[in-house]
Amino acid sequence: MRKKLIAANWKMYKTPDETRAFFRDFFPLVVGHERDEIVVCPPYIDLAAALEAARGSNISIGAQNVHWKPEGAFTGEISANMLLSLGITHVIVGHSERRQYFGETDDTVNLRLKAALESGLIPICCVGEVLEEREAGLTDDVLRRQCVRAFHAISSKKAAKLVVAYEPVWAIGTGKTATPELAAEAHAVIRRAAAEIFGEPFASQLRILYGGSVKPENASALMAQEEIDGALVGGASLEAKSFAAIVKY
Ligand code: 13P
Repeated sequence: MRKKLIAANWKMYKTPDETRAFFRDFFPLVVGHERDEIVVCPPYIDLAAALEAARGSNISIGAQNVHWKPEGAFTGEISANMLLSLGITHVIVGHSERRQYFGETDDTVNLRLKAALESGLIPICCVGEVLEEREAGLTDDVLRRQCVRAFHAISSKKAAKLVVAYEPVWAIGTGKTATPELAAEAHAVIRRAAAEIFGEPFASQLRILYGGSVKPENASALMAQEEIDGALVGGASLEAKSFAAIVKY
C-alpha cells in the first residue's frame, strides 16, 4: 500500500502574514490526520513562516523550485542547501508553469531533479500534456518522453524518494478535471515508464499524484483510483477549509 500524499502548491499567492493565518485555520481541521501525508508548498518568502507554524505537526513544508548548483551567480534562484538549511523537506520540480512561462526544459528539469535527490530533498516532479497533444493522441508519448528525460542518469537507488505528479496542462486552473479513469490511465503510462527506467519493484512503490482542478467535490472520486497516490492542489489549497476537505477526501 502506498500512503497517499496531498500537497498544496500555492504558486504566487500569500504573504507571510497570510501564511500564518492559513495555518491557524488549517491545523484544527487536520490535527491527528495520519492516513495521508500533507505537504504545503508556499512561495520562498513564506517558507520560514510556514515552517515555524508547522513545527511539530503532521504537515511538511516544500518549496516550488530548486536550482541544480549549490551556489553561484544565478540571480533569483535558490539551492537545495539553502532549502535544507531552513528545514524544508520537499520541492516541486518541472511544474508546467515553469515550463510554459519560464523556459524550463526537460533538461533543466533533469538537472533540478538530480540536485534535489542528491541533497536528500523529496522532489515532486511534474509531467503532463497540453491540450493539443492530447487531442492529437500524443499523451502517452509526451508523458514517456518527459519521464525518460527527467529521470535521465538517475539510479533507482538515488531516486528512492521520488514522487511524480501528473498534471494535464488543460486541467490546471481551468475547472476541467481529468476524469478519474482518464487520470488513472495516464498514471499507468507513467508507472510503466518508471518500470522501464528504474525497474518493476521501484515502479510499484512510486507515488504518482494527480493535479489539475482538484476540489473538495471531486477529490474522493479521484483518490478512489488505485493508480492515484495523492493530489497536487493549486487554487483549492489556498483556503484552509477547502484544502482540509481535500485532505480528508
Ligand atoms: P489548480 O488546482 O489550480 O488547477 O492547479 C493545479 C496545479 O498546477 C498544482 O500544481
